[in-house]
Amino acid sequence: MTPLPAPADYSEKIPNNVDLHEDRRLQRALESWQPNFLTWWESMGPTLPTEDVYLRTAVNVGREGWAHFGHVAMRDYRWGIFLAERDRDRRIAFGQHRGEPVWQKVPGEYRADLRRLIVIQGDTEPASVEQQRNLGATAPSLYDMRNLFQVNVEEGRHLWAMVYLLHAYFGREGREEAEELLHRNSGSEESPRILGAFNEETPDWLSFFMFTYFTDRDGKYQLGTLKESAFDPLSRTCEFMLKEESHHMFVGTTGVDRVVERTAQLMLEHDTDDVGGLGGIPLNVIQKYLNFHYSVSLDLFGSETSTNVANYFTAGLKGRWSEERRRDDHRLTDDSIMVDAVVDGRIGQTEVSALVGLNSDLRREYIRDCQNGVNRWNRILEEAGLPQRLRLPHTAFNRRVGAFSGIEVTPEGEVLPAEEWERRKGAWLPTDVDKTHVRSLMRPVHERGKIAAWIAPPRQGINGKPFDYDYVHLA
Ligand SMILES: [Fe+2]
Ligand SMILES: [Fe+2]
Repeated sequence: MTPLPAPADYSEKIPNNVDLHEDRRLQRALESWQPNFLTWWESMGPTLPTEDVYLRTAVNVGREGWAHFGHVAMRDYRWGIFLAERDRDRRIAFGQHRGEPVWQKVPGEYRADLRRLIVIQGDTEPASVEQQRNLGATAPSLYDMRNLFQVNVEEGRHLWAMVYLLHAYFGREGREEAEELLHRNSGSEESPRILGAFNEETPDWLSFFMFTYFTDRDGKYQLGTLKESAFDPLSRTCEFMLKEESHHMFVGTTGVDRVVERTAQLMLEHDTDDVGGLGGIPLNVIQKYLNFHYSVSLDLFGSETSTNVANYFTAGLKGRWSEERRRDDHRLTDDSIMVDAVVDGRIGQTEVSALVGLNSDLRREYIRDCQNGVNRWNRILEEAGLPQRLRLPHTAFNRRVGAFSGIEVTPEGEVLPAEEWERRKGAWLPTDVDKTHVRSLMRPVHERGKIAAWIAPPRQGINGKPFDYDYVHLA
């Protein structure tokens, strides 16, 4: 029997279900990090002044009713520390320690690697808040504004989740890393965020929806591999984060749905593909944004082959997506895998040991998942009776990391000389003209129940509330 999960203690300065009050040193350390976090939130978080927002706050980790909804001032949001329930019988599912009990402490030999994995994950969380900080001012509706802020406060909570692990298990170095997480900033010249996609700007809402669809989904897959970790506190932390993450992807999926729906309406109404002049976003511009966000998100999975990742797997630090459902020996020492490669200047594949190819394995799972969204958006076009379709560009398109970083290809996968790529890339990636047009549509609609002209309203509101609910009170 698994014991009932500890309910969150909201009488504490830092809400938590980890009995923080029992470890005074740790509690004090985190309480001294807290004002730095708030200073970061005030200076790098959402810029639009609000009185309060209808937000979900995690209150428990159990299956029923883990969240509470209510209007709260964002500054007073109760960012807390929540780990999923502990399974006392849990055993390591893969690698050389397969079958042994999971670890409650960090083994000395894996300390540096685990810390690195946690820092990289932790760095993405505040980065996206920074990237999205100005979007509130151009929200197409109060409903969308509320969703943006929900994503933002939860990314803030995910930062807390990683900082808790750093403070609780990695001593002084962990505390230093926690400080650094607040000092690096998205797009900064001197100290940028660690991963490329998290230094790109999110200047408009189409980018935001694409980001939450494609880049938050990368987060889902990374968290999925860390959820398998033999280091049990990391596993339980990630399991709970995944719960929150699904709303972020919902925002992206349905956001793009609604843009496509509105574009299709305008195309039919005016019998034209060129809906730009009609206040909509043309399908080819949606496709270009999709191409961009998908390709930079593919880069987040790293090189096709990686000995580091092989070592993480063998050591039990980071597993595969749905590790337990895989039907193999979970050690992979004798297996091989085909991975993408450039062979004689052409796109091809090469065989490598399965361990070394784990990044490719994860990227493939991700690509399959991404296709579902595209199918869904195409159904909207199909139901509207339109022949146009959206699609995922070729894996080699616009890549800056891995085997394809040295070549340029069309979305169909045809290799191009560099000059030709330069000449033609504006047909596949958003140009300044496209971006300026999309930005010009981003006029705020802050009236209850109203929505901007470039996007359709949602089918439902949040938590059973109607679309015209007062989700946000502006200051
Ligand atoms: Fe997150
Ligand atoms: Fe997220």
